[in-house]
Amino acid sequence: MGRIAYVNGRYVPHGEAAVHIEDRGYQFADGVYEVIAVYRGRLVDEQGHLDRLRRSLSELEIGWPVSESVLPGLMREMIRRNRIDEGIIYLQVTRGVATRDHAFPARAKPALVMTARSRDLTGLMTGQPVRVLTVSDNRWGRPDIKSISLLPNCLAKQKAHEAGCFEAWMVDREGWVTEGTSSNAWIVTADGKLVTRKADMAILNGITRISLIELVRRSGVEFIERPFTVAEAKEAREAFLTSTTSFVKPVIEIDAHPVGDGRTGALTERLIAFFTDHVRSQTEAA
Ligand code: PDD
Repeated sequence: MGRIAYVNGRYVPHGEAAVHIEDRGYQFADGVYEVIAVYRGRLVDEQGHLDRLRRSLSELEIGWPVSESVLPGLMREMIRRNRIDEGIIYLQVTRGVATRDHAFPARAKPALVMTARSRDLTGLMTGQPVRVLTVSDNRWGRPDIKSISLLPNCLAKQKAHEAGCFEAWMVDREGWVTEGTSSNAWIVTADGKLVTRKADMAILNGITRISLIELVRRSGVEFIERPFTVAEAKEAREAFLTSTTSFVKPVIEIDAHPVGDGRTGALTERLIAFFTDHVRSQTEAA
């Protein structure tokens, strides 16, 4: 059986799923999205993703395409129809279809599309180390909103891949690392402190980030939310990134400069284990 997509109330074969060419997502990137991991057929950190979706919609004054209480059932149906054991659900809400005009349309109905695909998440739990390239952060002023407007992120990720790196860490005008193109950035400083930037308007408040902070706080590991520079990251003892599609990934090189001894750090290993337990415990069969 092939993949099934959800398009505005209908489940359709993935290859036939389509929206109208005047959908404002297509013309203006006027929409928001979420990517949610599925492990053992269950959604990981579902409530966090729903809370962030609510916030993104509200910041852009886009209404719910279906009532908030209905969405979890639709996502479960996507898991069921696509037979996902390990994978991801992508969901996108746009302001809807309207004659092209920059200002909000008076009567467009928000549009909801979802795709699901299998993906090996157990493999992520091994914490495969990666390299990072730094690039300047030239995004708009509201990266805290999970908007589908991702062109600067795409350009930066492409640049990273061309340099043989997995991710690009974006750097603001003052030299502070903001975040990755699709992940949050963390370091363990030369004197052993775990640091990640505060979730201000300059970054997306990752759900993986939020969960890991909670796990770190419970464990008693010393942790500080503050920005760090590229120079500090290069001199750090350890570095890693977090996201729904990476979980916790060690960063062993920044701009071809080895981080620490160039191998996964001890604290990073511990945090990978924390996060793996977190995913496993919330997806155990009842
Ligand atoms: N990206 N920062 C940015 C810019 C992101 O796009 C993402 C996620 C994150 C991490 O957020 P979370 O832990 O909630 O996944 C941080 C998703 C995975 C994507 O665009 O595919």
